[in-house]
Amino acid sequence: MRLHVTGATGYLGSELVRLRPDASTERVEIRDPNAVDELFSRLRPEVVIHTAYRQDGPDARGINVDGAENVARAAARLGARLVHLSTDVVFDGRKGAPYVEADEPSPVSKYGRTKAEAERRVAAASPGALIVRTSLIVGGAEPSKHELAACRPGTWFTNEIRSPVQVTDLARALLELAVLEVAGPLHVAGAEDVSRAELAELVTGRPVDSAEAPPTRPLDCRLDSSHARSLLRTRLRGVREVLG
Ligand SMILES: NC(=O)c1ccc[n+]([C@@H]2O[C@H](COP(=O)([O-])OP(=O)(O)OC[C@H]3O[C@@H](n4cnc5c(N)ncnc54)[C@H](OP(=O)(O)O)[C@@H]3O)[C@@H](O)[C@H]2O)c1
Repeated sequence: MRLHVTGATGYLGSELVRLRPDASTERVEIRDPNAVDELFSRLRPEVVIHTAYRQDGPDARGINVDGAENVARAAARLGARLVHLSTDVVFDGRKGAPYVEADEPSPVSKYGRTKAEAERRVAAASPGALIVRTSLIVGGAEPSKHELAACRPGTWFTNEIRSPVQVTDLARALLELAVLEVAGPLHVAGAEDVSRAELAELVTGRPVDSAEAPPTRPLDCRLDSSHARSLLRTRLRGVREVLG
């Protein structure tokens, strides 16, 4: 299949390209719909994996929402399969149990709101798109931003729970899912749930300063990935196995 990866220089994007060196990676400004259309008309990808985003800053909404919609529209015009990357923080973290695909997004952070809106826009523009919600990405050849942060002085939250995923596991899963007939939201995260404080201890190998996070943050955003597991050959390892 002709594969195009957006955000190919990023943490996940570069792992996808390492696994699929034949993928096209040319970067255009995704907020520019004409640039995305021109690129896809020229490359004619059969599958697009859309990882490009910004976590924060003044451009985040335009990139995460309008950019994602532009990618989805351009892919749909060509009849290309779209795998769109989303996040566990489309949820508010107040359910008290792992989130399943049928749960309604209810973001409480600015970033989460952009990604939830992106999901809606992508689904409308490209109804066959697969929307992969994942958790903290860790464990590559280079440390991820979460691992780097854990090594800096700071206080880590004991009640902010995530299901971290190893970057190669996630990339392999995405490549498998790219050719399966599955659409809509799908949770693809690691097999173990840990707090931010536990994650920092796993990364550093020593106790860290910890505290409870304020309730305004997305606290318990565990993802239930059992549907993905039933579809995949790739094993989504737990974070203790990956970093322990
Ligand atoms: N990292 C995590 O722990 C995590 C957790 C949950 C979900 N996710 C999701 O996973 C995806 C990938 O995350 P990541 O951490 O691998 O990303 P990343 O390392 O921050 O890389 C982001 C990529 O997006 C590109 N990009 C940013 N703005 C762009 C624009 N306007 N036009 C074109 N390209 C642009 C960047 O290229 P330039 O540097 O050239 O701008 C870069 O290649 C995201 O959709 C994110 O929401 C990530």
